[in-house]
Amino acid sequence: MADVEGLKIAKDYHVGVPFANQEGFYVKGANHLDWGMKKHLSNIFDPKSGNTVMFAFDHGYFMGSTAGLERLDLVIPKLLPNIDVLMGTRGALRTCVSPDCRKAVALRATSGSSMMNDDLSHEVLAVDIEEAVRMNADCLAIQTFIGADGQLSSLDNLSKAVNLGMRYSIPVMGVVAVGKQMERTPRFFKLATRILAELGANIIKTYYCDDFEEVVAACPVPIVVAGGKKLPEKDALTLAYNSIKGGAKGLDMGRNIFQSEHSVEMSAAIRKIVHEGFTDKEAYEFYEDAIHTK
Ligand code: 5RP
Repeated sequence: MADVEGLKIAKDYHVGVPFANQEGFYVKGANHLDWGMKKHLSNIFDPKSGNTVMFAFDHGYFMGSTAGLERLDLVIPKLLPNIDVLMGTRGALRTCVSPDCRKAVALRATSGSSMMNDDLSHEVLAVDIEEAVRMNADCLAIQTFIGADGQLSSLDNLSKAVNLGMRYSIPVMGVVAVGKQMERTPRFFKLATRILAELGANIIKTYYCDDFEEVVAACPVPIVVAGGKKLPEKDALTLAYNSIKGGAKGLDMGRNIFQSEHSVEMSAAIRKIVHEGFTDKEAYEFYEDAIHTK
């Protein structure tokens, strides 16, 4: 391990320079992967836009029934036309989502936390790879806790998932958790996203931050941005627009869709930004028109 003394601060991100090792396949960092991995990644990322709209409804794995997700069976079906990927637990998928939905699946594969205690940073790799194959998962979502007590075990979970994912050609999405004791700074997100990519994650889910372009430039796999807490729709669309403009290859929104009074129209507006190049202003106008004509 390189000694940490005298580490020079990274600064040359060449933000405007496209990713060099890209010939042959459109998903960043995936051109040397095998056919099966590429097939799963093309189920997630649209070959035309290169981007994805993930709908996250996995909150129940540690939060129980969350506002807006009280009835998964009622919430999910109406959103299917506007989303590309279902980000959920095996329990939610099997009980509340029809297998003929023809959507990609980001399968929440770690668990062990609950809102009943403060330390949410200790999870296990709960879904085995055969279950992921049975679920026809397009990626395994693995929570990681960089800087928290659970850092080592979470990175062990990630590495185990990458080992299994490479064996069965199922991509791994490393999820960057942010908790009370973790900083939400460019420094943290550059560190966390790069660690997960270096450990073999094929997709990183993280949060938007200042200098986001540098986070993207330093990460050799695609980044998908989590929505975070519910914002006014206009602000959430600006977050989506800034994320895509900053180089994210998609959004993984939960609360900003299912806690919106007009979740269908909100998911449609997000889709306009992700796949049709809408600005946040255009998407908000679209959203406003849609809710006033329904
Ligand atoms: C919850 C998650 C969610 O997948 C992720 O945070 C996106 O949801 P939201 O947009 O509501 O933050 O990891 O455990």
